[in-house]
Amino acid sequence: MALGIADMAVFCKKKGFVYPNSEIYGGISGFWDYGHLGSELKNNLKQMWWKFHVHSREDIVGIDGSIITHPKVWVASGHVESFVDILLECTKCRERYRGDQLVEDVLKISADGMKADDINKLVRENKIHCRKCGSALGEASPFNLMFSTEIGASGGLKSYLRPETAQLIFTNFKLVEEHARMKLPFGIAQMGKAFRNEISPRDFLFRCREFEQMEIEYFIHPNQTGKCPFLNEVEDMEVNIFSAEMQENNKPHSPMKLKDAVKKKIIQTPWHAYFLGLEISWFTSLGVNQQHLRARQHLRTEKSHYALDTWDLEYKFPFGWKELLGMANRTDYDLKAHSEHSKKDLSIFDEESKQKVIPHVVCEPSLGVDRAFLVFLFDAYNNDEARGNIVLKLHPKIAPIKVGVFPLVNKLDGEARKAFESLKRNFYCFYDRSGSIGRRYARADEIGIPYCVTIDFETLKDNSVTIRDRDTTEQVRVKIDGLPSFIEGLINGKPFGR
Ligand code: GAP
Repeated sequence: MALGIADMAVFCKKKGFVYPNSEIYGGISGFWDYGHLGSELKNNLKQMWWKFHVHSREDIVGIDGSIITHPKVWVASGHVESFVDILLECTKCRERYRGDQLVEDVLKISADGMKADDINKLVRENKIHCRKCGSALGEASPFNLMFSTEIGASGGLKSYLRPETAQLIFTNFKLVEEHARMKLPFGIAQMGKAFRNEISPRDFLFRCREFEQMEIEYFIHPNQTGKCPFLNEVEDMEVNIFSAEMQENNKPHSPMKLKDAVKKKIIQTPWHAYFLGLEISWFTSLGVNQQHLRARQHLRTEKSHYALDTWDLEYKFPFGWKELLGMANRTDYDLKAHSEHSKKDLSIFDEESKQKVIPHVVCEPSLGVDRAFLVFLFDAYNNDEARGNIVLKLHPKIAPIKVGVFPLVNKLDGEARKAFESLKRNFYCFYDRSGSIGRRYARADEIGIPYCVTIDFETLKDNSVTIRDRDTTEQVRVKIDGLPSFIEGLINGKPFGR
């Protein structure tokens, strides 16, 4: 039977990946804590993201903005007025529902972005009642998702925990452009916590109230939004495309080369096509099956208040195709809004065109760390019936622990410890001497350790050890001296055994 989201939550708790927050006090909905393996996996995937999107490029630099900012930031960005979901409340038991989700669950239609009036109409027409007690639901109303707080000892200045990391990029845009001496087109990346007071957090890490985002705002000269110098890097990539038109005509998604999608104007700007290809290649380079990903265009009714066109990268979760990453065309909405509200000129001088411009963000790849974490786990999870245990086939670069070190028998503990001490200078390793060697391999498989090193009696004679590959169970012998570089090679993609 396929693994469901609740099974994944149980697995994550049992193995030390993720725990319900404050469970000893009964827990609190929408908040999760990462355990000893989860924190490693999460850190690894964040590092890989930063390396791929920032360190390996010349056109993107990173920042780390604060969580609480001047409240005017959120007025200018439109979040105070428009960052809302539609709330439905039971008139009797007071159970609260996110209107679009309730309508989707009951009527099996897409209701993302629906306004309160439309939700009210559907609730009335279809006689939708409280799912808990069966009573009537009250009128649907907008509910702002931002968590508010007060700044200063005497209070008085109401502000918010940031609901997205993006705004800090816009408020620091001019400083970064100047100090990092960036030239258009260029991007600014940021990763960090975001907070949304979700009406009904659900599906484990998929929809939380506290989560992390990894975002890039990519700034382009307003006259150059139709030209992307990097499109050739991804244009031949075949991607599952699900355009607004396909959705409106009840057609399934269909594989298409990115260059064809641009040529046929299905994807309207080459920048969107480029970043979709780039983000898909980041996931596949870390082991995600491309057939589990698709690019879906937002319908007119579901676009955010700032967006001209939006494409989501969706993943085939056990509970359906759902958003993993959002990519909105924010135009010059944010820089203009902050210029107006702050009365500071946020235009920049573009040397090539010799013009002063407010750049456009045609495309904003915005990825949730916690959703990416779930995707890597689902794609890696294998119940290997022949082996009789779960094999978590995480890519070695993101696997929490890289190497398991085992003495074949306890008598070899001293020798095995020596190997462990030298390996742990290079990799996060795990030492295990309890139980049969088969049991130890199974334990390592279940938490995704890609390589296990066993010290046996041969080691005493010729200084060699057995190294076992998690995914194939293939084993080779390697001299202890060459072990770190051998493992380094494997992590970086060298085939096993060579
Ligand atoms: N700056 C654009 C922005 O924040 P978004 O589509 O609202 O766009 C981007 O969020 C990504 O953040 C989503 O694709 C998702 O991966 C993640 N995300 C959003 N809300 C989330 C939540 N409540 N829990 C977990 N992840 C969330």
